[in-house]
Amino acid sequence: EIYHATATAPVNIAVIKYWGKASTKLNTPTNSSLSVTLSQDDLRTITTASCSASFDSDALWLNGAPHDVSNARSQACFAELRALRKAKEDQDSSLPPLSSYKLHLISENNFPTAAGLASSAAGFAAFVRAIADLYELEETPTQLSRIARQGSGSACRSLFGGYVAWEKGSREDGYDSIAVQVAPESHWPTMRAAVLVISDAKKGVSSTSGMQATVATSTLFPNRANVIVPARMEAMKKAIAEKDFEGFAELTMADSNSFHAVCLDTIPPIFYMNDSSRAAVRVVEEINRCAGKKVAAYTFDAGPNAVIYYDEANEDLILGVLKKATDHVTGWSDKYSRISPKVPD
Ligand code: DP6
Repeated sequence: EIYHATATAPVNIAVIKYWGKASTKLNTPTNSSLSVTLSQDDLRTITTASCSASFDSDALWLNGAPHDVSNARSQACFAELRALRKAKEDQDSSLPPLSSYKLHLISENNFPTAAGLASSAAGFAAFVRAIADLYELEETPTQLSRIARQGSGSACRSLFGGYVAWEKGSREDGYDSIAVQVAPESHWPTMRAAVLVISDAKKGVSSTSGMQATVATSTLFPNRANVIVPARMEAMKKAIAEKDFEGFAELTMADSNSFHAVCLDTIPPIFYMNDSSRAAVRVVEEINRCAGKKVAAYTFDAGPNAVIYYDEANEDLILGVLKKATDHVTGWSDKYSRISPKVPD
């Protein structure tokens, strides 16, 4: 007999960035972070988990190609989920012994992998959610976020819709390094995001190795992690609570720039943004200057692609200008424009 469960997980894009590990073993961060979850209609991973007494080994296929699961991250997720299932089986002997069966995972992204479009976030969130569903676990998304975090830090935030904080925690064992929903999507439903795809090529320096190099070598980094980000986390939560778009935009752009500044301050320097990315910054700055207030906010992750947040009320203006600019700026495609952060309830 083969047991199955299928789950999807959305992409999230941080507005206060995670960059730096406190423990590489536990995958805990040097600072808390906060993200907006995007609509699953546009960007998502779908994963089917199956298990059977007849499977010989754990295996994962991503977009049809076999992927290695012997890495410590996948192994940590498997081990934690199996331990939760085992505890259930120990309590109820009528349950089939799924915890002792090997797992097969079939995963598909509807967006480019490792192009700075948070594919590892949706990937590990769907991985954990699908196995948790297969095992009929009753753990809350926050409890599961502790497991997804060990797969990829940003994945812990993709177990929720809306506005999500990953609190760095202070315990030695990483137990309190978890994601919590700051506000549901319905709290601020007019928020929109446009993804400007500048390149869908695989990124040069992975976020994992890039952030470790930054922690080891950047002299600007301690101030960012210990002083700047903690203050911004509080200010961002307030801006979201008050639906203050100008405050949200100011913090989002400042934190993206601060993150790319510590990348540049890394030895050797890391460049994720390129000339087309900087052109997107200038277009957004120009939109805001003409509007006389902040109506759009750019942010860039570990790649050149821009995510631009705006309020639905300004959609025609923002998308109109972006569309016009696309004709003039080399290296822009608007193929993912108009992504709504809405997630189905
Ligand atoms: C720039 O979550 O990919 O997107 O924990 O090593 O898998 P690992 O790193 P990852 O880093 C994401 C970095 C970021 C910022 C963010 O999403 O907060």
